[in-house]
Amino acid sequence: MNKENMKTKPVLFSGIQPSGLLHLGAYIGAIKNWIKLQNEYECFFSIVDLHSITVRQDPKAFRERCYDFLALYIACGIDPAENVIFCQSHVPAHAELTWILNCYTGMGELSRMTQFKDKAKKQEGATVSVGLFDYPVLQAADILLYRTNLVPVGADQKQHIELARDIALRFNRLYGEIFTVPDHFIPKAEAGARIMSLQDPESKMSKSDPNEHGTISLLDSPEVIRKKLKRAVTDSEAEVRFHATKPGVSNLLTIYAAVTGKDISALEAEYQGSGYGKFKDDLAEAVVTFVAPIQERYFELRHDKAALNAILQKGAEQARARAEQMLQKVYEAVGFVVLK
Ligand code: TYM
Repeated sequence: MNKENMKTKPVLFSGIQPSGLLHLGAYIGAIKNWIKLQNEYECFFSIVDLHSITVRQDPKAFRERCYDFLALYIACGIDPAENVIFCQSHVPAHAELTWILNCYTGMGELSRMTQFKDKAKKQEGATVSVGLFDYPVLQAADILLYRTNLVPVGADQKQHIELARDIALRFNRLYGEIFTVPDHFIPKAEAGARIMSLQDPESKMSKSDPNEHGTISLLDSPEVIRKKLKRAVTDSEAEVRFHATKPGVSNLLTIYAAVTGKDISALEAEYQGSGYGKFKDDLAEAVVTFVAPIQERYFELRHDKAALNAILQKGAEQARARAEQMLQKVYEAVGFVVLK
């Protein structure tokens, strides 16, 4: 990375959990903006594997999935020569700062996190782990370690970023200006802040959705994409219009606009009077065309483990160097003995 840029550019941090498949929702809600912003910011893009073990992972599949995600980040357009791409578990400071921040975070605050409440409910019957409860503090540590100015995420992460801000402000009030207070960057609703399930437009498209027809993976084949979009839930009106009373169609319009760059109003005009059949067929072709070059690049990259490991090695070194500085600053601030 160009040293000059490192000094002058503001910092961007974001990450995705390597659990399940990387889907179109995460692409539109987050990665699309990573790509857009990567030249303006000094960027740290993490594969947040520590977060993923808040639910059980099969170790072998999990390890391979981390490589899948790395190859997909790059295939989507994140340049590893210009940005720091790394696995969270390769930078011990993330876990270390989490402990410190735990001591500055209230049980009540974490109990109010809607994602915790939802996930805990879904695990009904099973033990809800302390890790799942503490998950947002680890996320705050991710962000605060890098003096992050901007965190591009989907709308579901807003509450977590607000918590990171609150923790930073609280810590700074006690010890001076240690942390940079981050802002979130969330797309507008019609630009895909929350892409919904194709099968249930009331719930978000999610890696953990047991109904695979609700989610389009970036690695789905053209046949699968066509099938899923043909089956997508709409309504009985047969009118292609973006409106709160038409969540299924509005979601499809949002996806269509995101993958083609067309305006939603232009799409509404284009499909006026044409019914849902043609609209869905054309959308399927647009999604197939959109993912084709990503998949092509992904398959080129994915088999070269040595090259992927080299990227992770470099990313880990760059991230560690930066994170360690902040951790030392925090250790000094709270009063630990510092060995020079
Ligand atoms: P995760 O892994 O669930 O999702 C990754 C990113 O994709 C966005 N996203 C969506 N956006 C729109 N519509 C959807 N259906 C959709 N599904 C996912 C998410 O908002 C997110 O931006 N806790 C985070 C990961 C994380 C993180 C961080 C993010 C850990 N540390 C630090 C930013 C900064 C998560 O579980 O995202």
